[in-house]
Amino acid sequence: MTALTLSTSSAATLRADAVVVGVAKGAKGPVVAVGAEAVDKAFGGKLAATLETLGATGAEGEVTKLPAASGLKAPVVLAVGLGEVPAKGDGYEAETLRRAAGAAARALAGSKKGAFALPVEDAAAAAAVAEGALLGAYTYDKGNGDAKDDKKKNNGPLAEVTVLGGKPRDKAYKAAAERATAVAAEVNRARDLINAPANVLTPASFAVTAVAAAKEHGLKSEVLDEKALKKGGYGGILGVGQGSENPPRLVRIGYTHPKAEKTIALIGKGITYDSGGISLKPAGHNETMKCDMSGAAAVFAAVVAAAKLGLRVNLTGWLALAENMPSGSAIRPGDVLSMYGGKTVEVLNTDAEGRLVLADAITRAGEEKPDAIVDVATLTGAMVLALGHRTFGVMANDEAFRTALHETAEEAGEQSWPMPLPSHLRKSMDSPVADLANMGERMGGGLVAGLFLKEFVKDGITWGHLDIAGPAFNESGPFGYTPKGGTGSAVRTLVRLAERTAADDLG
Ligand code: BES
Ligand code: MN
Ligand code: ZN
Repeated sequence: MTALTLSTSSAATLRADAVVVGVAKGAKGPVVAVGAEAVDKAFGGKLAATLETLGATGAEGEVTKLPAASGLKAPVVLAVGLGEVPAKGDGYEAETLRRAAGAAARALAGSKKGAFALPVEDAAAAAAVAEGALLGAYTYDKGNGDAKDDKKKNNGPLAEVTVLGGKPRDKAYKAAAERATAVAAEVNRARDLINAPANVLTPASFAVTAVAAAKEHGLKSEVLDEKALKKGGYGGILGVGQGSENPPRLVRIGYTHPKAEKTIALIGKGITYDSGGISLKPAGHNETMKCDMSGAAAVFAAVVAAAKLGLRVNLTGWLALAENMPSGSAIRPGDVLSMYGGKTVEVLNTDAEGRLVLADAITRAGEEKPDAIVDVATLTGAMVLALGHRTFGVMANDEAFRTALHETAEEAGEQSWPMPLPSHLRKSMDSPVADLANMGERMGGGLVAGLFLKEFVKDGITWGHLDIAGPAFNESGPFGYTPKGGTGSAVRTLVRLAERTAADDLG
């Protein structure tokens, strides 16, 4: 992973392969942002004019590379767009800095060291630049030897990030760097898990990987294999997994802090491949379905991040892992499953499998009486239609908690939107042969799925649901600090939630 340092050095004298400066959209053309003074000086005060000549406008995400002027140690200057100049007295928003740093880090793939001379005027800004750069530097190691080769040829991801500006010797800056390193490493861990193809990452191999990483970070772990699941009566997880050669797993990862006052259960949908099952998805809808374990990846990564940061909270991560395949042993539309805890579900559509594995895990997690349950899932195509590819939906059985989750996401730099759980939709899941069906009215499908999950939350437990089907996997080009493929959606929100819970600051 890319190494991070904060430095008091001048952007002019630091040895690096490129120095990154910010350029904003001024009223009369591009203006150079705070932090770039030394670089501008080397250009005789004409850096903005030079950039304008090259066609730079300062628009968000715009990247302009130019040869450095004499007097600069780095051979290249990379100007990254910051968008509009903020109102007088205001600094740049953290997310603006994160995205700009990410776009710059991406553009520096193949370089060894980037010096980031962006407007860093406090520890929060340093954290944003560091996080954005480390996230933007991510590349997926294809496992074919290319990565080693790339490194040799100096063609791999940006290896070193140095963030300049502010007061890096202050405690707040050191904490910011530590947090950015842990959070980015864990978002990148989630991305790696998501990008791993389904023939490599099966429920069993995911469980093995999770247990190994849990051990490394002093976390408790427990794996229920198909035998244990049968014994426990986990009909949802077993039902979804029964059509596959790769049997299902339920993994419990526990992080505890001796002084914690609150416990949160995090539940992740971990369908390592979603073919739809007997209700098979048509071609065009299954090529990216290795991403259907993004919720489990996010939950796992967030628990590890909380452990790395030593947050004063207890977290229990539940990974509901199964592969949804059609076969002679697969569940059929019309089958009735006896779920963990005894409720029965008529499976009308085997492609509505996520709610089945989650329901078992929600019931199981509820037995431990956590203060709150939050599940994360690539649950419905309907949520993608509603909110698009960059925003996840937030539902809850408690309005204040839904608001808190939405605000927590915003603080973390993730886009989300609160969605309702209209009770009238519940009757569309009535079944003549079971307690409920796994499918109901098509319209508002994301909310119907949420209402299904709500049935499995014990009375008195606060519960929230993040439907990340839109933002979990980026099929178009990279942008800001978001790569193509697995994005690590919801990891930062969950870490922020853990931090807020630790600080007893959930409003
Ligand atoms: N994993 C899918 C949802 C999904 C769609 C995730 C697009 C990521 C991108 C889920 O299991 C699913 O198939 N949902 C169905 C439910 C329906 C059958 C009630 C859907 O949304 O079509
Ligand atoms: Mn499905
Ligand atoms: Zn699915």
